Amino acid sequence: MTSSKKIEAFRTEVLSYWREYGRHSLPWRKTVDPYKILVSEVMLQQTQVPRVVEKYKSFIKKFPTVHALAKAPLSEVLKEWSGLGYNRRAKYLHDAAKAIVTEYGGNTDEALKHALPGVGPYTRAAVRVFAFNEPHTMIETNIRTVYIHYFYGGRSSVSDKELIPLIEKAAEAQDPRTWHWALMDYGVYLKKLHKNPSRRSAHYTKQSKFEGSLRQVRGAILRELASGALTESAIMKKLSRCHLDTALGARALGGLERHGLIEKAKGKWRIQ
Ligand code: ADE
Repeated sequence: MTSSKKIEAFRTEVLSYWREYGRHSLPWRKTVDPYKILVSEVMLQQTQVPRVVEKYKSFIKKFPTVHALAKAPLSEVLKEWSGLGYNRRAKYLHDAAKAIVTEYGGNTDEALKHALPGVGPYTRAAVRVFAFNEPHTMIETNIRTVYIHYFYGGRSSVSDKELIPLIEKAAEAQDPRTWHWALMDYGVYLKKLHKNPSRRSAHYTKQSKFEGSLRQVRGAILRELASGALTESAIMKKLSRCHLDTALGARALGGLERHGLIEKAKGKWRIQ
């Protein structure tokens, strides 16, 4: 087990970096509203911070409360989500908002104690830490980076199981909100400094290439359907006009339908 002295030096390093260079002005760090923090965490799941900042602001402006989001049609939510990619997340977030309102009377705190669409253990812990300042163990890519760099300098593969006792010990008696902001920011700094030490983690997964992918075709189809229902052949025409692979069109439509994002009615595809 790592010595208390090393843990103490580690905390000092992380917190002093944060005091001086932390990203104190990120908009979701200026609120303790669990709904807004949930929105930010879902956006941040697969999209980088600089791209999320403006999208987060406009999304919250359009849907300032969980009630506003729950009431909105999916097509409006997807429109607001465009540019973030991974549209299934928008659908999950929308479904989660509907569940929070209909099943828990709009109480996000209460709802988070139960299963919610698209809210896994990490997202649940993150919202509880940042909204309620509760101590929870949360592991994401930047936090992994920090521990692997500081405590496992030369190791090529470190499992989360191995990291957890260390993560728990280091978090003891820390202010949960500040501590996790600081870990994330220090992780971003280390990644810039070295070439991504979290690739040493056994849990590292590289994001697949966007260009030419099924994901890109799915995104293009949703953008087209945002302005109204279309037949399959109209969709294929639009894809080919955008120089996208129409061979992927049918699979993309199937995937979007399976995920509950679109449906076919009277021979036309439309957003559900
Ligand atoms: N602040 C709160 N949650 C965050 C996240 N997931 N990424 C970056 N900064 C954050």
